[in-house]
Amino acid sequence: MKSLNIIGCGRVGRTLARLWHDQGSYHIQDVLTHSASSAADAIAFIGAGRAVTQLSDMCTADVWMLAVPDRHIAQVAADLANIAPAQPSGIVFHCSGALASTELSALQSSDWQVASAHCLLSFASPESALAQFAGTPCALEGDPAALNELEPLFAQIGANCFPLLAENKLLYHAGAVFATNFLPVLQAVANQLWTTSGVPADVAAHLNATLLKNAVNNIQTLGPAGALTGPAARGDVALVQRQGDAVTAWNANAGEAYRALSQLAAKLSASS
Ligand SMILES: NC(=O)c1ccc[n+]([C@@H]2O[C@H](COP(=O)([O-])OP(=O)(O)OC[C@H]3O[C@@H](n4cnc5c(N)ncnc54)[C@H](OP(=O)(O)O)[C@@H]3O)[C@@H](O)[C@H]2O)c1
Repeated sequence: MKSLNIIGCGRVGRTLARLWHDQGSYHIQDVLTHSASSAADAIAFIGAGRAVTQLSDMCTADVWMLAVPDRHIAQVAADLANIAPAQPSGIVFHCSGALASTELSALQSSDWQVASAHCLLSFASPESALAQFAGTPCALEGDPAALNELEPLFAQIGANCFPLLAENKLLYHAGAVFATNFLPVLQAVANQLWTTSGVPADVAAHLNATLLKNAVNNIQTLGPAGALTGPAARGDVALVQRQGDAVTAWNANAGEAYRALSQLAAKLSASS
């Protein structure tokens, strides 16, 4: 059985490693995180692996997953390259949606086969992600030998892999940010506006839930343009201006977002 080493084992690392372990496809070998206690928690969640506290303690593996935060990927790759030749080159991938496999260039120049594999799911917690993972799209890009290894690896746990060009990753990931990451922000701003306007907290919570559910249903049934309502979609320029001013007076950032989204809404409405 092939072996997998993991550097960074939070929400994404734990979820994927647990799925691979349950599926029995790879031997989950060494797990390195920032803090030793976190690595111990990770191997308990996965049900396999050996917690290590230093990169130099990690054994050779066929495949390495770097599931560290994006800002640490290049440095971890450079550290791994620096401990060569103790670590013979293998296949290494990171999990970032925005960054390309070129982030691993320190390893590529040491003959490693590099890739990025981005699972398009909100890994809010490892428990919820485990339950939601089946059928998750997974964007792959990188060296051909790495992709040949990773595509079946991700397919085995139910991911639907598709290719992506390295130069398109930032815009691709921005799509995910708009589709999912901004939703909680918009819901929180709406709730704050209702609370500020004197709407009782239980009514505000009910509004959040029902308006969101109805909007999702309408978007799925009618498409984004068909589901669009509101002053900008109706072309009520005067009201958009007055409301934008009121929101800006309440919160400048929210006012800026209101105006930018109203312009996008008017364009979407005009295109339908
Ligand atoms: N969360 C999502 O919804 C999502 C979705 C798709 C892709 N991704 C991508 O997946 C990657 C990981 O994200 P995540 O949400 O799983 O992050 P996370 O939950 O914050 O976990 C990060 C892990 O990296 C460890 N770590 C941080 N710096 C390290 C270092 N220098 N050396 C070794 N380990 C280090 C942390 O250790 P400690 O536990 O000790 O702090 C933690 O185990 C990122 O590239 C992210 O863009 C995230």
